[in-house]
Amino acid sequence: MSSVPKRYEGKAKIIYPTDEPDIFLAHFKDDATAFNALKRGQIQRKGEVNCRISALLFEYLETQGIVTHYLEQTAPNQMRIRAVEIIPLEVVVRNVAAGSLCRQTGLPEGKELPAPLVEFYLKDDDLGDPLLTRDRALLLELVTPEQLEQLKDRALEIDRHLQELFAECGILLVDFKLEFGFDRDRQLRLADEISPDTCRLWNQAESDPQKRVMDKDRFRRDLGQIEAAYQQVLQRVEAVMTQK
Ligand code: C5P
Repeated sequence: MSSVPKRYEGKAKIIYPTDEPDIFLAHFKDDATAFNALKRGQIQRKGEVNCRISALLFEYLETQGIVTHYLEQTAPNQMRIRAVEIIPLEVVVRNVAAGSLCRQTGLPEGKELPAPLVEFYLKDDDLGDPLLTRDRALLLELVTPEQLEQLKDRALEIDRHLQELFAECGILLVDFKLEFGFDRDRQLRLADEISPDTCRLWNQAESDPQKRVMDKDRFRRDLGQIEAAYQQVLQRVEAVMTQK
């Protein structure tokens, strides 16, 4: 792939064009970044593991009626995707208090939220991806009020499906980040990836706050055994999906 000019390179993925109109290849990298790329590293085989987990989760969500950009996996660390114009909003759904929610509100880590919380962040590295109010999101004219509601409803629907699937894997879906885009027909599609890089996943069989972490917090917080945790997520998702 290295001879094909890149269409876009992000922190975790490279997007390549193909000969087919409106079809791209997403190549998942082993590079890991955190804290707006202030911390950098590599997680062995992360590209392959995240690509496989994302593929399985997109396939599952499609069976549940969620429209995504995913078409098929074409290599261990590569998938064919439909072109979408990414909405520059990061949609975060939280079921349990963790991360920036705890830092910014003082809520204790691990507190179950009375209802899932949907938040919108501006996708802008230079500004540090700030949390937006609804009015700020509308002020920036990135989406219409109707589209903002649609994003919230879609995110909550995805949360319901993913919580159920991860529960079958013995994993608590604490929170996660989604990205959406519009295709050529202005159809809203779930895009980007869903993986231990973009979710907080806690092993339900573990109560120890460090041992239970199965996601990128192992990298962010230097907890070690990152590769093993990501592998474990993949194995469990694969096992549950083969039964479906
Ligand atoms: O850091 P924070 O607690 O706001 O993150 C909430 C969720 O969104 C976490 O699962 C985190 O991994 C994910 N996230 C992400 N990409 C970002 C910011 C957050 O995947 N740029």
